Amino acid sequence: MSLKQRIPLLRWSFLRMALGVRNISTTGQIGDGREAAVLDWVVANARRGDIDDVIAKIDQFAYEKSFLINVGDEKGALLDAAVQRVDARQVLELGTYCGYGALRIARAAPAARVYSVELAEANAAVARGIWEHAGVADRITCVVGTLGDGGSTIDALSTEHGFAAGTLDVLFLDHDKNAYLSDLQGILDRGWLHKGSIVVADNVRIPGAPKYREYMRQQQGVLFDTVEHKTHAEYQTLLADLVLESEYLG
Ligand SMILES: C[S@@+](CC[C@H](N)C(=O)[O-])C[C@H]1O[C@@H](n2cnc3c(N)ncnc32)[C@H](O)[C@@H]1O
Repeated sequence: MSLKQRIPLLRWSFLRMALGVRNISTTGQIGDGREAAVLDWVVANARRGDIDDVIAKIDQFAYEKSFLINVGDEKGALLDAAVQRVDARQVLELGTYCGYGALRIARAAPAARVYSVELAEANAAVARGIWEHAGVADRITCVVGTLGDGGSTIDALSTEHGFAAGTLDVLFLDHDKNAYLSDLQGILDRGWLHKGSIVVADNVRIPGAPKYREYMRQQQGVLFDTVEHKTHAEYQTLLADLVLESEYLG
């Protein structure tokens, strides 16, 4: 890894992302077209139908071309391990972005149906294009919406996509950090988790989800058993981050 790749502040695409950070909560994109560009890059450079190559080419784009807010390779390995640990059949990701996290989940759990909720239609279109190129579009579904929209998205997951009591093996929280706790609560209220289900939460240190972290501390040994993984923010090694892996105790 080059110095530029290790220290994100030396990269223009990282500084440009800091300028566009406010866009992410409204449009879901940084504002310079990098999300559409990664789809073009994958189609032009990754072997069609080869999920490993597609993931590798997205990582290459993020390291060498333009920084992306994917879970990334280092934290992605923690996500892979969590998904494999429960032999997941149904997985829900909140926050699709360009579809990278869902691809990793689909690779780690070949028998799973993966659902990913994303607020921005434009990101859903990029992700679907990437999944199609990787040959896994039949196993990953993007649902455009948010769980905080008053009930229509969470209702759609149950009426159209088969979410029901005890069906959800892995929940991956990687969207609006202020919504981690309320969205988890909405899922708990529906009873979708079962004993042994895993909840993985990214970015608990950067940008940070303090209320969620506190909740998991309070629930330690009660509703959840949580391991805090010390790691780095995506695609660099300067900034520390935390990924929380919480087993539901039922
Ligand atoms: C950090 S990115 C997700 C990265 C993705 N999980 C991956 O690893 O490839 C966050 C995404 O969450 C979306 N988002 C933000 N708030 C959301 C919400 N309340 N519900 C669903 N998606 C949301 C943003 O549009 C953005 O695409």
